Amino acid sequence: MKRVDDFRLRFGKNEYVPIMVGGMGVDISTSELALEAARLGGIGHISDAMVEDVSDRKFDTSFVKDKTKLYKFNINNSDKSVVQFDLERLADAQRRHIGATMAAKKGDGLIFVNCMEKLTMNGPRETLRTRLNAALDAGIDGITLSAGLHFGSFALMADHPRFREAKLGIIVSSVRALQIFLRKNAKLDRLPDYIIVEGPLAGGHLGFGMDWADYDLMAITLELLAYLKAESLDIPLIAAGGIFTGSDAVRFLEAGAAGVQVATRFTITNECGLPAKVKQEYVKATEDDIIVNGISPTGYPMRMLKSTPAIGAGIRPGCESYGYLLDATGNCAYINSYNREVAAHPNEKNIVVMDKTCLCTHMRNFNCWTCGHYTYRLKDTTHRKPDGDYQLLSAEHVFKDYQFSVDNQIALPEKEF
Ligand SMILES: Cc1cc2nc3c(=O)[nH]c(=O)nc-3n(C[C@H](O)[C@H](O)[C@H](O)COP(=O)(O)O)c2cc1C
Repeated sequence: MKRVDDFRLRFGKNEYVPIMVGGMGVDISTSELALEAARLGGIGHISDAMVEDVSDRKFDTSFVKDKTKLYKFNINNSDKSVVQFDLERLADAQRRHIGATMAAKKGDGLIFVNCMEKLTMNGPRETLRTRLNAALDAGIDGITLSAGLHFGSFALMADHPRFREAKLGIIVSSVRALQIFLRKNAKLDRLPDYIIVEGPLAGGHLGFGMDWADYDLMAITLELLAYLKAESLDIPLIAAGGIFTGSDAVRFLEAGAAGVQVATRFTITNECGLPAKVKQEYVKATEDDIIVNGISPTGYPMRMLKSTPAIGAGIRPGCESYGYLLDATGNCAYINSYNREVAAHPNEKNIVVMDKTCLCTHMRNFNCWTCGHYTYRLKDTTHRKPDGDYQLLSAEHVFKDYQFSVDNQIALPEKEF
């Protein structure tokens, strides 16, 4: 019986353990987590979601405080179009976050950054251009384009000296999305270096509608492999979403995938950015606790724990401080929902908003507990302590379990109590 370690992911002449740890914003896939994947010979992702806030926390910068001060006058105005990102400062934050990660890199693996298009930041084109180019400036090994169709994203970095050297990949959930991406980028004569096919069981935003349960990752993977073959496109395909054991991964590698991207298993590692209490919420969750809903203002369905504080919390929109989901006209679906509830309950102190959530503030505070479908199986991957909490794992333990396990087995860690 084969194990993941019998396979290698190839980029040109270089070979890697075919395990990518997926990007999890906001700073859930920390530099520490990504660095462990790279040290062990695989690929780790950091995320550039809310990078100014991440920089403030890591490097004691004051991007958020300064922005809040600058736009304080607008807090009670529902028109947020004035709340613009300063592109110099955005680039500065991006370079700090990525530069520090790359400087700490050890081992033969790679560090990629996950860049979501749906972070439209009140200026979709220019903020994305800034993020992508600053990531290349800072020496990132690769960029994974996610949460969006990214029709113009390659063009935004085409003039960068590293455009043809850095690894650039795209996340898709269908052959059609890939076809359109390739067509829109054809004139640049630069194919993606890898394609991640993300199925409906992943964490975060889903590339499907509320009919997500009708789709199957293996079926989409096989369709994409057939398409790539028919078009003579030799691009590694990485499968993601619900791959919980090494044996699950082997099934995709044997079917022709070049690697797997995994995330959920790493949410209860010491290196993951979630607070310890939230990690316990994840590991204790049962199948019934995990839902897919439409509260993300992006319009994409999102999977999360039912008990997440983000559901129903009617906080004032935090756009003057954050504003990562403001569209090109300075609007966000949450602002509309919030204003509707305020107008309907003028004397109410505690506003409840059920249909949308203030994703920036809640993700930033680790109060939107987005998770993968198989989060309810995390309790099978570790020990329960006498006090009822579960032992956290090391990223190395989880990575190696994917790499070496056979027979659908999950290796438990050595007991620490
Ligand atoms: C907590 C969490 C947060 C995530 N955040 C993001 C994100 O910000 N951007 C993104 O493209 N994918 C995100 N994902 C998806 C993962 O990168 C990955 O592709 C997917 O979850 C893999 O499936 P698995 O979790 O079943 O292993 C997230 C996943 C989880 C579990």
